[in-house]
Amino acid sequence: MIKDWQDRFSDNIKEFEGYSIGKIFKYLNNPEIISLAGGLPSPDMFQKHEMRLASRKRLEDDIDVIMQYTGVPGEQSLINAVKGFLLRDDIRVNDENIVITSSGQHGLDLTGRLFINPGDIVMLDRPTFAGAIVAFQMQRPRIAGYDIEDDGPNVEEYRKKLIELQSEGKKPKFIYVIPDFQNPTGITTSLRKREILLDLSYEFDVPIVEDSPYRDLRYSGKSIPSIFSLDQKREGTNVIGLYTFSKIFCPGIRVGFNIGPTDVIGRMINIKEGNVLNTPKYNQDMCTEFLTEMGLEAHMEKCRKYYGEKLDVFLETMKQYFPPELGVKWTKPQGGLFLWVTVPAGIDTNKLFYEAIKYKVAFVPGEVFYGENPATNAMRINFSYASKAQLTEAVKRLSECIRAEVSRES
Ligand SMILES: Cc1ncc(COP(=O)(O)O)c(C=O)c1O
Repeated sequence: MIKDWQDRFSDNIKEFEGYSIGKIFKYLNNPEIISLAGGLPSPDMFQKHEMRLASRKRLEDDIDVIMQYTGVPGEQSLINAVKGFLLRDDIRVNDENIVITSSGQHGLDLTGRLFINPGDIVMLDRPTFAGAIVAFQMQRPRIAGYDIEDDGPNVEEYRKKLIELQSEGKKPKFIYVIPDFQNPTGITTSLRKREILLDLSYEFDVPIVEDSPYRDLRYSGKSIPSIFSLDQKREGTNVIGLYTFSKIFCPGIRVGFNIGPTDVIGRMINIKEGNVLNTPKYNQDMCTEFLTEMGLEAHMEKCRKYYGEKLDVFLETMKQYFPPELGVKWTKPQGGLFLWVTVPAGIDTNKLFYEAIKYKVAFVPGEVFYGENPATNAMRINFSYASKAQLTEAVKRLSECIRAEVSRES
C-alpha cells in the first residue's frame, strides 16, 4: 500500500500550490455578500437567444462530427473567423500561425510548457494575472517582476535587468504583458511603452507574450495598436498573442486562440496533442457563430456601454466614499473588468478580506498577483458582475470596513 504519495510527485509539481484565488471563494457562499472578487463577465451580456438558435442549428446539421474527435489545431471554420476577427485589429495571419486553445488559461499553459525550463527567467509586471503566474510556475521559472506604472510596464527596470542578464550571458525566456486593461490593475500600456517593449525585444532578442482578453472592452479613450500588430508593421516575428472568448462571449465555452510564428504554433500544437488533444468541436462552432452570425460589432458596443456604465458608477461612488484623507488610492481604467485599490501601508488585505466578509463585501487580496515579494496592501476589484446598485452598496461597505481598520491601526 502506498502511504506517502508526496515523494512520488514530479519535481515540477511537488512545491506547486495551484491557483490560490480559488481558496477564497469558499468564503463567499452567503448570498448577502456582494462579491467583487471573481473575474466574471455579466450574464446580462450573454447572447442567450442567439446561442440557443446557433446550438440547435449546429446540432441538427452537424451532430456526427460534433460527437467525434476533430483536428488538434482547431476547426477550419473558426480559424477563418479568427483571421477576420484579427483583421479588425490590423493583424494578418495565416492558418499555420493560429492554434485554437481550450481557453486563455490553456493558451498560457502551452506558453509555459513550450518555453520554460526550471530556473529560466520570465519577466513580467508586478502585479500581473495570477493565472499566468501559476501556469508558468508549474515549469519552475525564476520570476523577474517590476512594478507596473500608470502607463504600463516599467520599461526602464526591464532594460536594466536585460542589460544585467546580458552581461552574464543570459536571456529571459519571454516578457509577459497584458497591455489592454491589465488584470488585475486595469492599466493600459501607452503606445510609447508598447514600442519600447518591442525595441527591447529586438535589442535583447527576447520574445514578448501579449495576453489580450480585454482588448475589445474599451469604454473610453482611443484604441492603441496591439504589440502584435506593431511588430508586424516593423516586419518582426517576436510576439506571441494570447486571446480568449471568455470575456467577450462567455467563459463557459472555454475557447481561445494563440497566434505567433509558425515554429511556435507548430510546437504548441504538439503540446496540445499531449494534453487536451482537440478543443471540443461544439464549443468551437459556437465561437464561430459568435464571430460570424451573432452581430459581433453591435454586441461589442452593447458590452462597452453596459460595462462602461458600471465602471462609471463604481468610480463615482469611490470618489464619494473615499476622501483623500483616508489614504486609499485606486486606478481609473479605460476598459476591462478590474481596478486596483491600494490601502494605507500597514493594512494587510489578506486580513482585511476576513473583516470585509463581516461587512458582507468581498475582493481578491492583492498578494496572489505577485510572482514573488508580494505587496500586501492592495486588492483587486471586479466591477462587471455585480449590479449597479450592488456596486454602490459594496463601495459603502468597503469604506466602512476600511475606515474601521484605519482607526484601529492609528
Ligand atoms: C489576463 C488574462 N489571461 C488569461 C485569462 C484566462 O482566461 P480564460 O478564462 O479564458 O481561461 C484571464 C482570465 O481572467 C485573464 O485575465
